[in-house]
Amino acid sequence: MSKVFKDRILEGKVAFLTGGGSGIGLRMAERFAQHGAKVMLAGRRAEVLEAAAKGITDAGGIAGTAVLDVREYADVDAALKRTSEEFGLIDIVVAAAAGNFPAPVMGMSANGFKAVIDIDLIGTFNTMRAAFPFLRKPGASLIAISAAHATTPIPFQSHVCAAKAAIEMLMKCMALEWGQNGVRANCIVPGPTAGTEGMKRLAPAPELEDQIIAAAPLGRLGTKDELADLALFLSSPAANYITGGSFPCDGGTSLIKSGSRMEEAWKLASRQKPR
Ligand code: COA
Repeated sequence: MSKVFKDRILEGKVAFLTGGGSGIGLRMAERFAQHGAKVMLAGRRAEVLEAAAKGITDAGGIAGTAVLDVREYADVDAALKRTSEEFGLIDIVVAAAAGNFPAPVMGMSANGFKAVIDIDLIGTFNTMRAAFPFLRKPGASLIAISAAHATTPIPFQSHVCAAKAAIEMLMKCMALEWGQNGVRANCIVPGPTAGTEGMKRLAPAPELEDQIIAAAPLGRLGTKDELADLALFLSSPAANYITGGSFPCDGGTSLIKSGSRMEEAWKLASRQKPR
């Protein structure tokens, strides 16, 4: 984690992140810590969390760890309670824990489908629902990590598509219900992002990555830093009037998907006989 940051815009704030030990969640935690927030990294693997927290504290930040599975409400609840006792009321919650594997509907068992729904959707509900009593109100910022899957059906990704669509709606409902408490709830919608578990699982060969880059309007993959910057913005006073939104950080890749679908639709239409 780089030490050089002039403005610490989250000084005195407290952040709790599931999936905080690695990937996008960790990079967001690092960004929050660089800006003065105390961060609690929650996840399933103690050694991964410890190493991540050490990276932050070695760079001068303040970080703690909470070993939990987001599918277990009582564990999430206990971790949030401990965070508020050790660090103070919670200003920022990020639900970044996620599960994914590519499989067609007929290639996944009911339990396989449920595993992803449980981690992604139920895990996000558990995290936000359990956090509410420990939030600083008014002022808290809740962020769930969605994906283009929420709005674009993707083959071999039915479980993630269903979970992410539901997560976006869940966050909008929380924005509605908790607006009166001064709590904001938003989604970040990452596109293909370099060095992530998602890219490893969904584009495991270099030629698949090349295809994604070739089709991307900005001609490259995104970076975890760019997602962290969006999370920082959504958690800063600059976003005080922003709630209930889903914000892509995807280099325009979602536009291309809908564009190619339109092309296919036009081709199909041109083959139809005029009535
Ligand atoms: N194809 C089909 N089914 C699969 C599968 C695959 N590639 N991988 C797992 N499953 C099924 C398992 O067979 C099991 O179903 P069954 O009991 O009917 O056999 C079910 O999914 C649960 O698997 P299990 O390994 O017991 O679950 P888990 O809770 O330990 O792990 C996963 C959850 C499967 C999502 C796992 O990939 C995970 O933990 N991922 C976390 C990290 C991650 O995915 N990051 C990417 C984010 S984009």
